[in-house]
Amino acid sequence: MKLGQPHGGELINRIDESVDTTSLKQTVELDTIALSDLELIANGAYSPLTGFLGSKDYDRVVSDLRLADGTVWSIPVTLPVSQETAASLTVGERVRLDYQGSTYGVIELEEIYEPDKQHEAQNVYQTTEEKHPGVKNLYNRGAVYLAGPITLVKVPEKTRFELFYLSPEETRRTFADKDWKTVVGFQTRNPVHRAHEYIQKSALESVDGLFFNPLVGETKSDDIPADVRMESYQVLLKNYYPEDHVFLAVFPASMRYAGPREAIFHALVRKNYGCTHFIVGRDHAGVGDYYGTYDAQRIFDRFTEEELGIRPLFFEHSFFCKKCDSMASTKTCPHGKEDHVHLSGTQVRKMLSNGEAPSAQFSRPEVAEVLIRGMKVSV
Ligand code: ADX
Repeated sequence: MKLGQPHGGELINRIDESVDTTSLKQTVELDTIALSDLELIANGAYSPLTGFLGSKDYDRVVSDLRLADGTVWSIPVTLPVSQETAASLTVGERVRLDYQGSTYGVIELEEIYEPDKQHEAQNVYQTTEEKHPGVKNLYNRGAVYLAGPITLVKVPEKTRFELFYLSPEETRRTFADKDWKTVVGFQTRNPVHRAHEYIQKSALESVDGLFFNPLVGETKSDDIPADVRMESYQVLLKNYYPEDHVFLAVFPASMRYAGPREAIFHALVRKNYGCTHFIVGRDHAGVGDYYGTYDAQRIFDRFTEEELGIRPLFFEHSFFCKKCDSMASTKTCPHGKEDHVHLSGTQVRKMLSNGEAPSAQFSRPEVAEVLIRGMKVSV
C-alpha cells in the first residue's frame, strides 16, 4: 500500500466562490469551531468528509471510530444549532452558513437530529465532566445537529500569518516540488521545547521531510496564543533546523483535547496534507489526567496500516538528561528522574510570565525570549 494517499482515496474539494447565496431564505450562524470545520471539510483536510456528519455516520464514529461505510474516523465533525434554529429549518433546503455578518458556506440540509451528548462525551472524551475543555465545548454548543454536504462559498480571510495557511492540495504540491517521498507530520498546540525538537529530529533521521504543522484554531484559554507560538516556531526553525528538510504551515482546526481519538484524527488529517508518517509522543492531545500517558499510541493497534494509510511514529517521554549530557527518553536513558530536566506546562508558563527563561536544556534561549515577550503582551 502507498502511504500518504488522501483518506478515502480522493482529496475532497468543495470550494466554489461563484455560488450565489442571496436567494437562500434560511441562515445559520456558525461558531468559530464550525467555521474552521467548514473550511477544513471544503479544502480536503477532512477527506473523505463532504459535509457535517449525518446520524448514521455520527453514531458509528461515536461507538466504533468509523464512518457508516467502515472508513476509520474518530472525531464527530458536527454542526450544532439551538432547538429554536432547528425548528425554523426544513430538511431538503439549502441553508446559508454565516459567521459575524458574512456568508461563508451553504449546507444542503439532509438531516436534523438530536445527539445524546453524555454518550458522545463518554465515548469520545472518556468523561462526562464539564471541566474537560472538549466536553465543555460539546455541552455549550447547540442541542441539535444539522447534517449534509457543504460548499465553502467564501474562504475565511487570514488576518495573521497568512503565508502559513496552505490547503492539502498546496502542501502536497510543496512536498512533491521538494522531492520528498516520505514526510513526517508533527502536531502541536504548544511552544516547541527541546523534547519536541528531539522527537521531531529523531523522526526526521528516517524520512525526507518534517511537516511542522501547529494547530492554530481555538484552544483553551491557558494555552499559549497562536501568534506568539508562530513567532517562536519561526525563530526556532531559523536557528536550529535545516531549511530544505522542514516545512512550516498551520492547521487551523480547533483543539478537542480528545487524547487517543484525536491522535487518530490528527494522523488522518496529516495524511490528507500529504504526510506518510505521523509523530505521536507522550499524552498526545491530552489534558489533565483523563488519558494514560501512552493511550494515544495504543489506540493505533485497533487499526491496520492499510486502513489508516499513514504510519505512526511513537516516542517515549523525552527530556534532557544531565548524566547522559544529551536529550534522551525513558527508552534510551538508564538514569533516574533526579538527573532529568523536567518542567510541567504550568511551571513553564509561570516562569515565562515572570520574565524568567527556562534552562537552555529545556528550551532554546531564542524561543524563551519570544515567549517571554509574547506573554507580556498577551497578559
Ligand atoms: S498536543 O496536544 O498538540 O499533542 P503538544 O504540543 O505538547 O500537545 O505535543 C505535540 C506532540 O509532541 C505530541 O505528539 C506529544 O505527544 C509530543 N510530546 C510533547 N512533549 C513530549 C515529551 N516530553 N516527550 C515525548 N513526546 C512529547
